[in-house]
Amino acid sequence: MAWRQSAGTVYYKDYFMKALLESLAPGEKDWELAQAIDPSRLPAHIAIIMDGNGRWANRRRLPRVAGHKAGVGPVRSTVETCARLGVKVLTLYAFSMENWKRPRAEVDTLWRLLRFYLRKELPELQKNDIRLQAIGRLGALPPEVRRELLEAVEATSHNRGLLVNLAINYSGRTEIADAVNAILEAARTEGRLSTLRVDERLISANLYTAACPEPDLLIRTSGEMRISNFLLWQIAYAELYVTDTLWPDFTRSSLLTAVLEYQKRDRRYGGLSSAPLNGSNSKAPEELLAAFPSR
Ligand code: FPP
Repeated sequence: MAWRQSAGTVYYKDYFMKALLESLAPGEKDWELAQAIDPSRLPAHIAIIMDGNGRWANRRRLPRVAGHKAGVGPVRSTVETCARLGVKVLTLYAFSMENWKRPRAEVDTLWRLLRFYLRKELPELQKNDIRLQAIGRLGALPPEVRRELLEAVEATSHNRGLLVNLAINYSGRTEIADAVNAILEAARTEGRLSTLRVDERLISANLYTAACPEPDLLIRTSGEMRISNFLLWQIAYAELYVTDTLWPDFTRSSLLTAVLEYQKRDRRYGGLSSAPLNGSNSKAPEELLAAFPSR
């Protein structure tokens, strides 16, 4: 069944939420969770470090690759739920530049799973207006994997719903270095190297994610308190949510719970609370000053 929204509604946030609620049975746990979500305060961009596949397999005395295989289902359900919620961008950390250090057989399995996912899901992505993008140094991928990935990116490039960024052969530091080199190269080509001044806006505009809002919510599964070289520049003000759930066990409920937790956060961006102020902070500045008589 297609869960894409028809376009043109003014109340598009409520409309997307309606799509999620319509896919659930009233009274079931996920329906209760979805009801509690405020559609006007959704994260525009959710980024996920999908971790714990190996541990999931170890606990079942299975080979590590069985954990990766079991991780495909949660990828599918997370994409579907984000689209139904009305999230604009979902970025999934599928393969880091450091992951090449793993045994060859494990790396090959990850490529096989990616190709399997692309082939199986492409019709659903199309039907639901989802756009796929790949971020990372794709030139190092096995040629067949790269070809199929770029074909899927091209095939979905006209879709206007959820944007799914697959981070593949990705490193946050490399992304920043690539951005700086792109800036230098453009300035050299245009003969303005001697007057070049680099600022934050220019770096942001040259990242792989240049067209995306920055992540509002960064989820990491399996309990590890690390960023692992993921979106280092972009997550400056992301809300972090770490769950002990291993990626293969990450369900729609897990995602909705993370969104609800995000909606409890008070995002201050280094300033003061945006929530109604309480206690002494609710006093006018002159009242506060009066409480501290000058010497
Ligand atoms: C980390 O778990 C996970 C990965 C390196 C790969 C993620 C891949 C998938 C979820 C499979 C399919 C992906 C797509 C996009 C179709 P880990 O192996 O480091 O787990 P561990 O820390 O428990 O060993």
